[in-house]
Amino acid sequence: MSDITMGPQRAAGNVTNAGLFFRRWLKNPLQMGSVIPSSPSLCRRIARLTEHGPDRVVVELGAGTGVITRALLAAGVPAERLYVVEIVPEMAEHLRQALPGVNVLCGDAFDLARVLPAALHGRVGTAICGIPLVLLPIEQQRRFVAAVDAVAPGLGFLLYSYCITSPLPWQALGLAAKREAWTPLNLPPASVWRYRPAEQR
Ligand SMILES: C[S@@+](CC[C@H](N)C(=O)[O-])C[C@H]1O[C@@H](n2cnc3c(N)ncnc32)[C@H](O)[C@@H]1O
Repeated sequence: MSDITMGPQRAAGNVTNAGLFFRRWLKNPLQMGSVIPSSPSLCRRIARLTEHGPDRVVVELGAGTGVITRALLAAGVPAERLYVVEIVPEMAEHLRQALPGVNVLCGDAFDLARVLPAALHGRVGTAICGIPLVLLPIEQQRRFVAAVDAVAPGLGFLLYSYCITSPLPWQALGLAAKREAWTPLNLPPASVWRYRPAEQR
């Protein structure tokens, strides 16, 4: 049986699931933004930049098949304080099977105030974005920034990208931007950017 026809039971434990990822890319390349999941090197860099104090949760937006989620768990983020949002139901189901204990929310990250339980608003340690924001018009990017700010005022978010320069027009979006990490060990090489509302600088 190939990865492409893999059922939920076979998928358990196979976090990377490159077959599912590629199949989704064929269906909707703009929504996926990449042909393959992020590399272990990139995932580790993101995990190192993630804050998860005892009263904080980590929110991952656009979790795909869960490779970053797995790195976050390996870095010590407790599964019960990890909230991953994924818009594609099939991928959300894969995440539930492959990463038991992690809170998987199937929904639209642009509607985060509704998708994330209200009790967690204001309790986000780090928000990580895997959605290919660079491919979206600025009005959509603005909506995303507002969606994160609605649940984590002033916090901003991490965004990984294959661009050499900032993937977001940070000034036009009222953000401060900092490139926190880079790795050549990803296809293609990738950077991790941190964006915060500009007044937080
Ligand atoms: C580039 S992939 C990243 C997957 C994974 N985090 C990784 O690094 O391999 C982008 C993911 O974002 C999801 N996505 C796209 N738009 C979304 C949205 N509005 N809300 C939630 N997830 C979304 C896609 O379905 C896809 O799984």
